[in-house]
Amino acid sequence: MSAAYCSIIDRLRETHALSEEGYLSLMQCSDAAVLDYLRQSADEVRRSVYGTTIYVRGLIEFTNYCKNDCLYCGIRRSNRCAERFRLEEADILGCAEAGYRLGFRTFVLQGGEDPYFDDKKVIDLVSALRKTYPDCAITLSIGEKPRESYQAYFDAGADRYLLRHETASAEHYGRLHPPELSLRHRMECLEALKEIGYQVGCGFMVGSPYQTPQHIVQDLKFVEAFRPHMVGIGPFIPHKDTPFGSFEAGSAQETIKLLSIIRLMLPNVLLPATTALGTIAGDGREKGILAGANVIMPNLSPPDARKKYMLYNDKLSAGEEAAEHLLELKRSMVAIGYEIVTDRGDYKG
Ligand code: 5AD
Repeated sequence: MSAAYCSIIDRLRETHALSEEGYLSLMQCSDAAVLDYLRQSADEVRRSVYGTTIYVRGLIEFTNYCKNDCLYCGIRRSNRCAERFRLEEADILGCAEAGYRLGFRTFVLQGGEDPYFDDKKVIDLVSALRKTYPDCAITLSIGEKPRESYQAYFDAGADRYLLRHETASAEHYGRLHPPELSLRHRMECLEALKEIGYQVGCGFMVGSPYQTPQHIVQDLKFVEAFRPHMVGIGPFIPHKDTPFGSFEAGSAQETIKLLSIIRLMLPNVLLPATTALGTIAGDGREKGILAGANVIMPNLSPPDARKKYMLYNDKLSAGEEAAEHLLELKRSMVAIGYEIVTDRGDYKG
């Protein structure tokens, strides 16, 4: 194996940072031995912090109404073909109850930016969950909000917030989003969330339209500087009823490589093997875990809602993706040498 690549990987592992050139050369490397060394290094680092445990999060997709019009996303407002749904508070609490019985101790409430769920509704919902489940973590993933709203949700009991930055290049951001959305505002939201005290997750799509290796380097430099508690990355997958419907999907291999790089950069990070990775490759989730990921987010939404929460074509929602099949998921993780634990799974750091 090339000694030069080996030393780049060791440097990342030891210093948790690389120059732009360092990241670029890793991204452009396709040497199987190097990639295996990267994967193995990331797995060692993950084991040194989290052992072989995998945290699970119960994902509740509670609305697919969205006021935004992101060009890649199947639930964008101008997709007239999308069948819209929203769950009421009682339904959401029902999902959480079922999840709690299955062993979930983190609930992730994810939705489009749906004005129906105003601050009062979100606060009521978070308060109700907090009161019923004092031992659980509550994660929100409901997009860009004013700082005061983030603060109010936090005060009501939310602990974590996921808001992918999508791409750290303003120019690329502009090609993926309508003019009314900006990278600057997205970054301001992420900063506010961190200052308030949330455990914060950012993230990006791999292989999104117009993405270049330099853009990915910018994403890595951003993640390195921002030091999030969580990073969600998955391959871009086209959705037929969006302007990007005929673009190619991102690659599983590249996504897996990035999981390893991010694990070496942020040893303590909470890193999900995402549904998109499992969708693009049958063994994607397992490979992600073997390459440094330590979180899986099975779906707790009612089956009908799951089918309608179509961010991209063929999004997985059955089998091990479904929370009720936790047992199967447990077995498949044991088969590769890891075990699912059902505590809150907080950031270690
Ligand atoms: N392919 C992959 N990921 C997507 N997302 C939205 N649309 C797609 C797509 N077509 C991701 C975005 C968003 C998260 C909820 O889902 O990164 O932040």
